[in-house]
Amino acid sequence: MSVVLGLNTLHAGASAAVVIDGKPQVAIAEERLNRVKYYANFPRLAVRECLRIAGLDFRDLDVVAVGRDSSANRAKKIEYVLTHPSQLLNLMQLRTSRTALEDLKAEMARECEVDPAELRFKQHNVEHHLAHIASAYYISDWDHAAGFSADGSGDFVTCMFAECRGPEIEVKHRVYVPHSLGSLYTMVCQFIGYTKYGDEGKVMGLAPYGEPTYADVFGDMLTCTDDGLRLNPSYFLPFGSGQGLMINERGEMEIQRHYTDRMIQLFGRPREPYTELGRREFDLAFGVQQVFETGFMHLLRLLHARVPSERIAMAGGCVLNSVANGKVFDGTPFRETCIQPAAGDEGLALGAALYVSQAILKGGPRCPLDHAYLGPEYDEPTIQRELDARNVTYVRLERDALLQETADEIVKGNVVGWFQGRMEWGPRALGNRSIVVHPGLPNMKDVLNARIKRREWFRPFAPTVLAERQADVFEHSHPSPFMLHVYKIRPEWRERLVAVNHVDDTGRLQTVTRDQNPLYYDLIKAFEQRTGLPVVLNTSFNENEPIVCSPADAIECFVRTKMDVLAIGPFLCRKGDAAS
Ligand SMILES: [Fe+2]
Repeated sequence: MSVVLGLNTLHAGASAAVVIDGKPQVAIAEERLNRVKYYANFPRLAVRECLRIAGLDFRDLDVVAVGRDSSANRAKKIEYVLTHPSQLLNLMQLRTSRTALEDLKAEMARECEVDPAELRFKQHNVEHHLAHIASAYYISDWDHAAGFSADGSGDFVTCMFAECRGPEIEVKHRVYVPHSLGSLYTMVCQFIGYTKYGDEGKVMGLAPYGEPTYADVFGDMLTCTDDGLRLNPSYFLPFGSGQGLMINERGEMEIQRHYTDRMIQLFGRPREPYTELGRREFDLAFGVQQVFETGFMHLLRLLHARVPSERIAMAGGCVLNSVANGKVFDGTPFRETCIQPAAGDEGLALGAALYVSQAILKGGPRCPLDHAYLGPEYDEPTIQRELDARNVTYVRLERDALLQETADEIVKGNVVGWFQGRMEWGPRALGNRSIVVHPGLPNMKDVLNARIKRREWFRPFAPTVLAERQADVFEHSHPSPFMLHVYKIRPEWRERLVAVNHVDDTGRLQTVTRDQNPLYYDLIKAFEQRTGLPVVLNTSFNENEPIVCSPADAIECFVRTKMDVLAIGPFLCRKGDAAS
């Protein structure tokens, strides 16, 4: 038996994962446990929780795989620093975190309060983008595919091409710092006032409100080349190997200034966060999304020329751009995608563990994964105890009654918290830590925002569709089990699905089969029987915080907000009934 613990540590999206004999057992991002979004120090709670769920002790660990290899691409780093002497400081920061990684046993012993003598594991560092690609390829059931990763940067690389065959992943090509599609997007986000780490998804939602007013400027920012792409340095500060990111004392990510004065000369002062949006911001969002898609499709076509497969396994922060993902079938020769649900850096823990397990240890058969339910779950007594502790009134229902009554509540236009089974891995709620509402009522978006989510008005809410009805409702039939593709909604459904139909008539859909999630599937089926709609609106169960993890998190959110109903395990709680 081979037991591998994967880690993404001292890096945004700190996380842990356990893979036994090639099979993913459990994977959790630290933010869900310590409630600090994109937490970037050591994932101490996630490590402990992963071991607990997998039934392991620290001394059971054979290998700890880290999704980062500071020794990778060293020659390129040195070359860069020699030509950019101002980046020496940046390299010194990297060295500090490298020292912690070099003494991982001591770090883990200290963080997890465990006797160092119990730690007998071997450490294996996996280059950042190789871990991204591994995270996607090894969860597919393919024996050959192109591998793709793109993000801001990791281990001094911004994009990697690979050929995946059997248990091997062969790196074919790298694009290096500073030429980065991810950094390009971040720069424009920051300029238009979305300055937090991970805000790119908001700008993606804003883009369809804009027009190609600034196409010339964006065309000047990015050049597609035979070996990848080039950013025009007159728009981007030379932020070097840290890519302009810092970890503050709370373990949160902070973004340093990315844009140059040229942006100010062209567009005026950057927008202050939380101030009103104007035409300029809409058009900048449109421009950056369009140039991003141009670069993304160019990279994919270059990859296809080197690895002529119809299948592509993808990960990396850029692959969270679900609008671009939805256009891959039209813009490239690829016909099938396998995208890691945790496409961002939290996915590195699983990717590194899978790489070591499959490619290094040859530790077992491939174990395809078509769901993302790799987190903790809670038994009925635990949930009941938490409900009692918060004085929430509930009824306990059998499975069918729970489904029927919950579907009735959704039909009535109520806001339903749906907390069931194992927590999802990755940034999307996929029917286990979700808020579920009627997708066809025109006011649902405003109701959700006013009562709970308080999101920007322009951000769309996403649909979950029964997999076998996808092609009726959407213009593409390739499945999207992890809510990472945006497709056009067919004209005849747009009015009927008004709350999930974005301004450009698209939806970032989740497809669900009964095998993937029987309870959630049956809930949507019960809703369909009442309304004729094979779709619900699914948004993450949270209020401006990491998605809820435990029953206590969920109950607290239910009590604090104007959520109408909470279905948690077999218990149904209605706000009107609650003592709270
Ligand atoms: Fe990354």
